[in-house]
Parts: sequence; structure tokens; C-alpha cells
Amino acid sequence: MRITRLYLRNYRVYEEPVDLEVPAGLIGIYGLNGSGKSALLESILWTLFGRARTAKEEIRTAGILGDCVTEVEFEHEDHLYLFRRIITGQVAAVRAHAWCDGSQMAEGVTDVKRYVEFILGMNDASFRASVFAEQNQLSAFSDHTPAERRKLVLGLLGVTPLDGARDQARKDARETRVALDRLRVVLADLGELEQHLVSAEAAAEETERAAGAGELAEAAARVATDRADTEYERLAGVAQAHRELVHQGQTHRADLDRATQRVQALRAEGEDMDQARARLGSLSDRAAGLAGTEEHLRLSRTVAQARDGLDALGCLVEVTPPDPEPATAAREKADADSARLADIDGERRAMKAERDRTAEAWETAHELSGDESCPLCGQALGEAFASVRYRRAADLDLADQRLAALDGERSALATAAAASKGTSEREDAALWTAQKAWDAHQRAVDRQCDAQARLDVALAAATSAGVQAPDVWVIRVEELAAEVADRRRAAEECGRLRGRLDRQASIATELAEELARRDQAHEAVVVLRDMVRELGFRDEDLDAAGAARTRYNRELAEATSRSQDARVAAAQARTRAEGAATELEGARAQHAKAEELTGNARHLGRVADLLSGFRDTVVATIGPRLSAQAAELFGELTDHEYDRLEVDPETYEIKLGDQGILYGMGRFSGSETDLANLALRVAVSEQVGFQSGGAVGLLVLDEVFGPLDDDRKERMLGALQRLGGRFRQILVITHDSAIKEQLPSAIEVVKLPGRRATARLV
Ligand SMILES: Nc1ncnc2c1ncn2[C@@H]1O[C@H](COP(=O)(O)OP(=O)(O)OP(=O)(O)O)[C@@H](O)[C@H]1O
Ligand SMILES: [Mg+2]
Repeated sequence: MRITRLYLRNYRVYEEPVDLEVPAGLIGIYGLNGSGKSALLESILWTLFGRARTAKEEIRTAGILGDCVTEVEFEHEDHLYLFRRIITGQVAAVRAHAWCDGSQMAEGVTDVKRYVEFILGMNDASFRASVFAEQNQLSAFSDHTPAERRKLVLGLLGVTPLDGARDQARKDARETRVALDRLRVVLADLGELEQHLVSAEAAAEETERAAGAGELAEAAARVATDRADTEYERLAGVAQAHRELVHQGQTHRADLDRATQRVQALRAEGEDMDQARARLGSLSDRAAGLAGTEEHLRLSRTVAQARDGLDALGCLVEVTPPDPEPATAAREKADADSARLADIDGERRAMKAERDRTAEAWETAHELSGDESCPLCGQALGEAFASVRYRRAADLDLADQRLAALDGERSALATAAAASKGTSEREDAALWTAQKAWDAHQRAVDRQCDAQARLDVALAAATSAGVQAPDVWVIRVEELAAEVADRRRAAEECGRLRGRLDRQASIATELAEELARRDQAHEAVVVLRDMVRELGFRDEDLDAAGAARTRYNRELAEATSRSQDARVAAAQARTRAEGAATELEGARAQHAKAEELTGNARHLGRVADLLSGFRDTVVATIGPRLSAQAAELFGELTDHEYDRLEVDPETYEIKLGDQGILYGMGRFSGSETDLANLALRVAVSEQVGFQSGGAVGLLVLDEVFGPLDDDRKERMLGALQRLGGRFRQILVITHDSAIKEQLPSAIEVVKLPGRRATARLV
């Protein structure tokens, strides 16, 4: 196998497309730590086998959602193969394709995996162990404890899965035995269960037989009950028909009785007719004068009432008409006295005002002296002032006298005015009383005139109607009222008699009808009586049928209940029998399972033994072969500087022979150890290739130069170049950029900003 081309896009740090032509032979891949060297070569494992160190969701370049595309093109056994793997979409769906010499050979993850395994002759684990010497793996051979080293080598050689399979088989055998022991503890006795099933079946059959008998008894009771029900219902029907006929007979009987009575009544009525006619003749004259007598009675009553009304008014007393003159004269006198008193009051008020002014002037003159000036004109009052004072005093006296005279006059006038006012009021009251008496008299006169007029009208009407005018109208009214009552009775009887006589024709018709009705009813009664007799129904038959029906129904209920109990018992017994059968079946299944577990435990134990033996044989075979291969390679790499190299078949510790004696690696230099480890790793690669039957011819060494000094690096490079004879292509990863000068071809991995990188051939 030789890789010819690698293509990456959106793959881990390689966001931008990287398309690398990969030469044959020894190729160095260098770049800074973390730049993407390991990722570049891991893309081969991913593309071919879908194997990656992380989940597929982490393979696509971080932050990018576009498709992640990786392609590996390689030559192998004269064919050119191309493998492509794509991660696409939000859910990171994986698609894979494979071509051979330009023709598509496989599509889909599973088919592509199968195809690559077919052409390379190894699965992904073998490919990885054979082709990829991963970072630090070489030094791990000498650094680890014997047990860890052995684990590492066996893992690479593919023995570990054998160990796992052996251990698993042992574990399964152990667990199967434990399960078997547990099952044995609970295994039931089959004989006992079979016996239990037989007796449960017998009990079920017995109760089922009883249930069958109960059902038969129930069916018989049901038949008897149905028959009794039918008989009772038949008799109930007859009873109903009997009742209806009796009812009809009673109706017709009632019609017959009624028609018979009616015929008798009509016949009696017909016989009464002559008497009625004679009586009518004797009463009709009296009845004929009823209207006239009633009119005379009405008129006589009107006259009697009018006369009673006039008599009730009695005789009128003579009344003098009222005279308003004295009252008018007394009122005028009272008004004049009142006016005079008002005048005197006015004069007195004026006089009083005059007297007050005079008294004020007198007081002013009394307070001043003749030496002072006049308060009004301002001139000196002088000696004449004494006469002024005198005059003032005289004026005041005069005013007082006048006022006293007016007071006396007013007092006399007030007495006179009060007297005349009293007289006027008395005269007014007398006039009012006289007026009232006069008005009442006038009304009585009017009423007497009206009553007289009514009496005159009533008398005129009575006279013109020919009513005799008796002296006492009340007696006349009573006589006429008696006569009216007598005539009214006669008229009423005449009406009744005439009505009876009017019915003579209709009585004949009705009588004929009633006779026909009576005959019809009679005939119906006779027919119905015959029908009732024919029915021959008797109440006691119906009662007996009812009692029988009740008895049979009770017996049916009892039979049903017994049958139901028997059925329940049968069902329970059957359930118990089925339970016993199920239990037996379960127990048989458990016995079968126990047998199966016994066989499995035996079988698994044998598989574990076989695997163990096989694994020991493999390990025993591999050890010497690996030792021989590593020794041969080591001799080649060191120009046979040492006697021999041996690999301990148990611990896979490398020992070197120097002058005939074997020594552990601790004795030798770092570069000698590196070469021995490289020889062992390459031997492992070849051994894996040999085991799987494939010959890949490709070797990937990740960081084998790690901490080597220049001298050791030199030796390692020389060794790698020598390996060129064994491998068509060796890819060596290192972070040492000096390598590009020392190897025929190199690929530089360049770190870009933002955890991105690209790679190019230099
Ligand atoms: N899906 C991804 N997207 C972006 N970067 C990623 C992705 N997966 C891994 N990386 C980064 O890729 C870088 C390169 O890893 P890689 O192991 O290839 O480095 P290296 O060159 O082998 O380094 P060293 O010399 O230390 O072994 C790492 O820093 C890692 O974080
Ligand atoms: Mg690395």
C-alpha cells in the first residue's frame, strides 16, 4: 500500500481544502506542536475505516457547518483506490464511497468498511496496530512495567481480544452455574405437581357434571314455569274478555231500564193530556186579564206614592221676609263713629308734635341767659330775652291745654264708637237668621208644589186608564196586588199546560223511539248473556292458575340459584385445574431451563478452556517469532554490532547479547535502546500483517524523534532509511523542522490563526 494523495476540507484544523500529492519512500511530516500533524495522518484511519479519536460530531472544523470531506488515494497490488468520507448536516450524518481504478465499488459506511477490509486483508484494529506506531509508543516499550509492556504488546498483536473472550467465557460459565444453583433451589417436584393436576382435573370434571345436572333441572323448571305462565296468561285473557262482556251487558241493561222507565213516563204523560186541556180552558180567562190588572196596579201605586209624598211635607208655617234696613243704618252709624275717632287721633298726634316742639323751645330759652348770643342768628340776645322766655312758657301751657281737651274728646268718641259697632253686629246677626228662615221656607214651598204636581199627573193617568178613584188609594193598591198575583199564577199554569199540550206530537215520536231502543237493549242483553255463558270463565280457575304460576316461578328461581352455584363451583374448580396445569407447565419449563443451563455451563466452561489454550498457544508461538524478527531487524539497523537481540516471551522485555551474554536494556545507550524499540515495534507491525494475512507496506511513526539528541536522531534517521527496503512508504511525524533537510521528501504543516492549519509538500 502506498498513499498517493490526501484531500481534506473542514476536517479538524484543516478548514480550507488541503490537497496533497504524497510521494513514495520516507516522508517527514513536520510542524509546530498542536499544528495538526497527527490529525493529518489520522485522516487515513478515518477515511478508510471511520475510526477517530473523538466522536464524529467533533471531527468537523469547529464553528463550521459545511460538509467535512476527506479523501485517501492509494496504490495497492497494482490498483489505484480512492476512498472518500463525508460528514454532512446538523446531525453529522456520515456518507462513504470507494472506487477502484475509477469505478465505484462501495457506497455507505458499512459497505465501504467491508470493502477496505477485503482489499487490505485486515480490520481497523489490525491496520492500526500494523501501520500506526502512535506517539510515544516506542519509548513505552522500555518505560513501562513488565505487566504494562506485556499488555501493550499483546494489545498490538491482537491477543488482548482473545484474553477478553476467554475471560468473558469464564465469567459467563460462572454466572450460568450460579443461575443454575439458584434455579435448582426453587425447582418444584414434577411428580407431585402431576398428581395435583390429576386430582384438580377430577374435581373440575365432577363439579362440571353437577353443574350440567343443575342446568338440566333449571331447564325443566323453566319449561314448567313457561307452561304455567302461558296458562295463567290465557285465563287472564279470558277473564279480561269476561269482564268486558259483563261490562257491555251492564251498559245494555242500564239502557234497557232507562228506556223502559221512559216508555212508562211517556205513556203516563199521554194519559194526562185531557185533564190538562180542561184545566187550561178554566184558567185562560183569569190569565188573560193579567196585563191590564198589572197596569192598574202600577198607576194606583204611583198615585198612592204621590199622595204619601205630599202628606209627608205637612202644613207650611207663615214666615215674614227679612228687612235689611236696621242693619244698614246701624252699620253706617258705626262707620261714621269710627271715622270721627280716627280724625281725633290724627289731630291729637299733630297736637302732641306741636306740644313737643314748644317744650323744646321752652327748654332752650330756659337754659340760655340774656348775655349770650342767639344760637340761630348769632346776635346778642339782650334784655328782650326775658319776654321771649315768657312767651315760650305761655305757648307750652296752651299746647298742654289743647292736648288735654283732645284726650277728653277722644275718650267720649271711643265709647260711642264701641257702642255703635256692637249695635251694628247684632243687627247683622238678626238679618242673617231671618234670611236663613226665609230660604228654608222657600224650599219647602217648592217641594210642596212639586209633590202636588206629581199627584196631579198620577191622578190624571189613573183616571184616563179607567181606574176608579177611591178615597183610600192604599186599600185599592192592596186589592189590585192580590188580583195580579192570582192572575199571574193562572197565567203560569196556563203556560205549563200549553207546553205540555204542545208536546203531544213529540211524545208519540219519542215513545216510538224509546220502544225501539228498549227492544234493541233487550236483544243485546240476551246475546251477551249467551256469550258470557259460552266463555265459561270462573274466578277460582284464574286464582288456581296464579298460584301455580307463583309456585313454579319460585321453584325456577331456586333451580337457577342452585345451577348458578354449581356453575361457579365448576368454574372455580376448572380455574384451579388450569392453575395446576400452568404450574406444572412452569415447573417443566424450569426443569428444561435447568437442563439448558447445565448444558450451557458445561459448554461455556469448555469454550473458556479452549480459548485459554488457544490464547496460550498463540502467545507461545508469537513470542519466539517476534523475538527472531526483531533480532533480524535490529541486526540490520546496527550492522550486526551486537551478538543478538532477544524478546522475553513472557514480559516482552528486550535483551541484547554482548559478547555472548544477554543484558537488559538498562545497560545500553539511549540510541541503542531507541533502535531496539524500533526493531520491536516494526516486528510487531510485521507480525500483525502476517497474522491477518495482509501486506500493507505502509508505516506511520508519530514523533519517534521526540527527545533525541542529534547523534541519536542521526542513527534513527539512518535506521529509518534502511527500513525503506521493507516498507513502500514510511511517514514520520516530528516537530523538528530540520528533518526536511535530511529526508528526501517532507510535508510541512503550517499553523494558521484561529486554530486553523494547512499542509503542503516541500
Ligand atoms: N474539529 C476540530 N476543529 C478545530 N480544531 C481541532 C478539531 N479537532 C482537534 N482540533 C485541534 O487540532 C489541533 C492539532 O492536533 P494534533 O494532535 O494534530 O497536533 P500535532 O501537530 O500532532 O501536535 P503535537 O506535536 O503536539 O503532537 C489541536 O490543537 C486540537 O485542539
Ligand atoms: Mg501529534
